[in-house]
Amino acid sequence: MKEIKNKVYYVGVNDRNKALFEGLWPLPYGVSYNSYLIDDEKVCLIDTVEVDFFTQFIENIRAVLGDRPIDYLVVNHMEPDHSGSLALMRKYYPDVQVIGNKKTFDMMAGFYGIKDGQIEVKNGDSIELGTHKLEFYLTPMVHWPETMMTFDTTDNVLFTGDAFGCFGALNGGIIDEAIDTDWCWLEMTRYYSNIVGKYGTPVQNALKKLAGLKIDYICSTHGPVWHKYVPKVVEMYNHMSRYEAGTGLVICYGTMYGNTERMAEIIARAASEAGVKNIGMFNVSKTHHSYILQDLFRFKGLIVGAPTYNNGLYHEMDVLLSEIANRDIKNHYIGWFGSYSWASKAVSKIAKWNEQCLHFEPVGEPVEMKQGLTPEVVAKCEALGRAMAAKLLAE
Ligand SMILES: Cc1cc2nc3c(=O)[nH]c(=O)nc-3n(C[C@H](O)[C@H](O)[C@H](O)COP(=O)(O)O)c2cc1C
Repeated sequence: MKEIKNKVYYVGVNDRNKALFEGLWPLPYGVSYNSYLIDDEKVCLIDTVEVDFFTQFIENIRAVLGDRPIDYLVVNHMEPDHSGSLALMRKYYPDVQVIGNKKTFDMMAGFYGIKDGQIEVKNGDSIELGTHKLEFYLTPMVHWPETMMTFDTTDNVLFTGDAFGCFGALNGGIIDEAIDTDWCWLEMTRYYSNIVGKYGTPVQNALKKLAGLKIDYICSTHGPVWHKYVPKVVEMYNHMSRYEAGTGLVICYGTMYGNTERMAEIIARAASEAGVKNIGMFNVSKTHHSYILQDLFRFKGLIVGAPTYNNGLYHEMDVLLSEIANRDIKNHYIGWFGSYSWASKAVSKIAKWNEQCLHFEPVGEPVEMKQGLTPEVVAKCEALGRAMAAKLLAE
């Protein structure tokens, strides 16, 4: 097993089988469920793995410990991809003391019926393992109520639960310096935007709580162990949780027969000619919304458009707007357009989404098209693209 530092071992597993994480998010590179074992006078396991991988997990633990027992099991996060092996761990290690907070134990009773052998910790509490000393930091709503982090003060290793996590299985390398991490940054942004993105304020609170720590390693429950890139991932979290996106434009459209798509092309061209260099364009029926959310955490401008469908908004656009609204994204601009053939609804529906749920700052005049392009519609699309460009580039 990979030793991260001073008898802190990686004992996690990889999942390259699952198509959709949480049944929602595509996993083109798989995902890892990370768990860590501290082999000290008192042996301590930090989090477990999804129960389907229990056989591999227990082999990993035994590769380090042999037949020796585990004294403590710290539960930083109760989501079942990390807590799923708790009940079986209790069977294999009946004397293990489970460490969590009040909210952890409420969930543990509900999910697994575990109500004893527990040590409840509060923010700032600590426990001695021998050489290692662990401190506990409660970080509620990053991204569940019970989430907490555990800091090994001896080696400056921070076990963060899902925070700083990244989609993608670990293909041999565990620590960032042993991996070509180019693929990680977008997958980390996608993980953050989809899973944690709604909880910007709790993430900011957590970062403030951890600000005084000298962190040498960040051990998340998904993706690489961060060592070389600790400052980078902390800064990424700081930016994303403040919704500080960069200069760029995300254009999303729905289309059945290509007319609405042609509007999107004209808008993109105009924005580009006005100087916007980062423009992402997505057909909402083709690109999974998790990738669109990812780009919304990178770029500040959004323009959406779709046809009218059965007296409402094209369904896939409704889905996307609902996903965006759910993330409470701040500091963004929006423009919109739509099409119809006999009774328009799309444009007014998008306006309503923004007014009632998204609350992005509207930019430019919405464009409405009946059936096909006309010179007037082309001019209005160009004006919308230019207006968004001017807004983005003015900053
Ligand atoms: C199944 C279906 C339902 C539609 N419902 C409406 C409608 O309720 N009101 C309307 O004005 N147009 C409706 N339309 C027409 C489209 O909104 C219109 O043709 C639009 O230009 C299609 O854009 P597209 O070429 O990008 O797919 C409907 C089209 C289809 C195929």
